[in-house]
Amino acid sequence: MFRDGEASPGSECPCVVISKSSAAAVLVFALHCHLVVTVPARASFPAGSVPTIRGSAAEPSLGGRYQVLKQLGAGASSIVFAAFDRKRRRAIALKLLCPGYVLEGLREARAMSSVVHPNVVKVYDAGRICDAAYLTMELVRGETLRDWARSPRSPAELFSVMLDAGRGLAAAHAAGILHRDFKPANVLVDRSGAVKVADFGLAGPAHRRTITGDRSGTEPYMSPEEALGNLVDGRSDQFSYCATLYEMIAGERLFPTGTVADAPAGTIERRLHQLRHTIGYLVWRVLARGLAIDPEDRFSTMNQLLADLEAAVQPQLSSVAC
Ligand SMILES: Nc1ncnc2c1ncn2[C@@H]1O[C@H](COP(=O)(O)OP(=O)(O)O)[C@@H](O)[C@H]1O
Ligand SMILES: [Mg+2]
Repeated sequence: MFRDGEASPGSECPCVVISKSSAAAVLVFALHCHLVVTVPARASFPAGSVPTIRGSAAEPSLGGRYQVLKQLGAGASSIVFAAFDRKRRRAIALKLLCPGYVLEGLREARAMSSVVHPNVVKVYDAGRICDAAYLTMELVRGETLRDWARSPRSPAELFSVMLDAGRGLAAAHAAGILHRDFKPANVLVDRSGAVKVADFGLAGPAHRRTITGDRSGTEPYMSPEEALGNLVDGRSDQFSYCATLYEMIAGERLFPTGTVADAPAGTIERRLHQLRHTIGYLVWRVLARGLAIDPEDRFSTMNQLLADLEAAVQPQLSSVAC
């Protein structure tokens, strides 16, 4: 599954060329996929930029097998396309990792392939083209949780989607994998309402220390221990999950900028207090525990968190079922 070096490293690598013009940095996957992708010029290419396809060959494809159809999204280190796998004759999502993220791409594929669960995006294949990596996965026809939550949603819908996302996270933990970047942009909701946790690019083994220089999660969702570079375990994902749950309920981020470590002391307590009458004591208690600064004060497992959350929101869920 994990093929290394489809073109021999060290030799001239014709398939990935990065050039910068004054107006745009241009990433050309020229040989294999004949795609031209442009991103606005930034000092730190391509973080924070949203690439768009400027032009493509008549039938762009990767390695002749994956026919590239259209761009679905882009993250800090990748561009994701809808594609067609000619060999398996199925639609897929094709994630092209930017040059320099090969290890991250292969790590992501390994992590995702070890978690088989309906609430986790299925990975099919991964490989390498020169100094770029790609992975193919199930195509989720829908939107990210971030976009999904922009439409008005009932509490029952919100809790049901968040419980499913939590089940995906718990399945990763059961397989010994930490997600480390759980947030609304990394959860996908398909048109039928199925929820899939995506983007295992930072995933790691269940106990790990953040290494200086190691890319870490997204600041507003990052646990205090991760922000401080301390040892992280599944309880760190609980914090990110609860920061996301808070955002879904409150309609705004828990920490608008920076990490919890940058926020004034007492921010979490204050914000949860403001929500307490809306959400009720039991949901408040789940959030307060999952967002505890000391991991020892959180739930011991994601499954325990989910059991308490499910019990707390049962009245809302069953009023919809009736
Ligand atoms: N399997 C998929 N099906 C459909 N769209 C996807 C899929 N995976 C990712 N995307 C889209 O691509 C975007 C970036 O993917 P992601 O894996 O989060 O990349 P990054 O690691 O660069 O953040 C997502 O926010 C989503 O819009
Ligand atoms: Mg992402």
